Amino acid sequence: MSEIKQLDSNINITNNWQKTCAAEDWSKPEFKYVLENIFTGNASYHRKQWEFVAIFINLIQQGKLDGNSVGASFGAGKEPLIYHVLPYVKSFLATDLYSWNTGWDTAKMNPNEQPIDFLKRNAPKNSRLDNLKAQEMDMRDLSEIESNSLDFCYSSCAVEHIGHKEDFIKHLTEVKRVLKKDGVYVMTTEFLYNHSTIPNKGNYKFDIDYLKQLFIESGLNTQPIFDAGCEENRLNVPRAFVRPLVGGKNMEKLLASAAILDIEGVPYTSCCFVLSPSEESTPSSFQVNGLEQSAEFIKKRLLNNVKNLYSSRRNLDPFYSLNKNTRLYLDDHITFRTNESNKNPIKLDRANFCFTDFVYFGAGNVSISINYKLEKHKGRINWKVVEKYPMEIKQKTELFTKFIKHSGKTDCQTIQFNFKADPEKVYAIIGQIAPKEMRKNDIKLNLTSLSVTALMKPVD
Ligand SMILES: C[S@@+](CC[C@H](N)C(=O)[O-])C[C@H]1O[C@@H](n2cnc3c(N)ncnc32)[C@H](O)[C@@H]1O
Repeated sequence: MSEIKQLDSNINITNNWQKTCAAEDWSKPEFKYVLENIFTGNASYHRKQWEFVAIFINLIQQGKLDGNSVGASFGAGKEPLIYHVLPYVKSFLATDLYSWNTGWDTAKMNPNEQPIDFLKRNAPKNSRLDNLKAQEMDMRDLSEIESNSLDFCYSSCAVEHIGHKEDFIKHLTEVKRVLKKDGVYVMTTEFLYNHSTIPNKGNYKFDIDYLKQLFIESGLNTQPIFDAGCEENRLNVPRAFVRPLVGGKNMEKLLASAAILDIEGVPYTSCCFVLSPSEESTPSSFQVNGLEQSAEFIKKRLLNNVKNLYSSRRNLDPFYSLNKNTRLYLDDHITFRTNESNKNPIKLDRANFCFTDFVYFGAGNVSISINYKLEKHKGRINWKVVEKYPMEIKQKTELFTKFIKHSGKTDCQTIQFNFKADPEKVYAIIGQIAPKEMRKNDIKLNLTSLSVTALMKPVD
């Protein structure tokens, strides 16, 4: 058996790590120590890096990394934290829905592979592995783990993916059962500042009241304070949501990393909780510090981003939301916007040949301009503005439609839509062959140029 490593006894953790991710955390001494000495990494200001370090610090603070503890991780995949924890514990069980046909790359094994071999294969060189166990396990049903057997457990970015409220409660009550009386569960998940819980099955994002209620209903105590504040500095400005723009996915890679992100106008980040089994009928809960101030700062800076982005006319990617096969074909032909010699007919995604991503404009007067050229098309084309609530997956409603009749000649058209954006909603532009025309089998769309642009003037 390899030697159990000792943590530096000088690590002095005085900060509260039951909190939201904030850029200033990277400068705190214990964070720097763990990142540099245990993880041997550089500061990335990425919320996933924060989650792993915050969990590790909380486990030190709770005295669980002294070489004598038995621990487990749920929805562990092949996360690096497993291998950082192993040298400091007696034994450790990594669990996930490990399978060869899961949609999660994190837990996808080779056919006939066992979870332990999968984790060994993915281990960094020189990892301690003799105290590692691995098992396929649904985190809603921990029946294969004995009651009162764990000194600690943790999960990172997993809970929000397991279903709905009844699934979260199942998981948390199971955690309560398997933990020893003085055991702890350190859990990270996704946190919303200015928005109520987004209940997408398999992809929740939580507000603080929802989380508080979950812990109480599951009989778990928390630490007394939850810190949701952040310093008003540039690294805490939500990273601008540029996905709808042409090249949006690449532009996001170029934008500076930020501790806080913006998706469809909704800012979010990671948060970490330290939970323990309660013996009382009402578990002890937490006080929230700093949320109002951080929510206000983040909202203001997010609206500023939106205002700056759309104060000049921006090119929206007309193919963003089309299905993958169509996108692949069209991405290939992205130059056709300027290269009018491309005469390949466009593959359709059902009736749609244009479908931008949903754009968040805040509150403003929006001007959309669509320019396109169609070669010898006979029939009707519908142009639509659709709206939905941010991160709502299925529900979209039509706001405006314009019908353009093409007579069979080569035709250049400019379509304008002007509307006042609702700051609670996001908008997309769709171009489609009229559904009636689609019934004819020989539809081919010789679209030789297409651009969709957006401009927004804020209203105060
Ligand atoms: C976002 S990944 C995070 C993986 C890992 N914790 C990390 O941080 O790299 C979510 C993980 O949850 C796992 N998962 C989803 N539903 C689960 C369930 N019901 N029980 C156990 N694991 C589940 C997935 O297989 C996936 O590996």
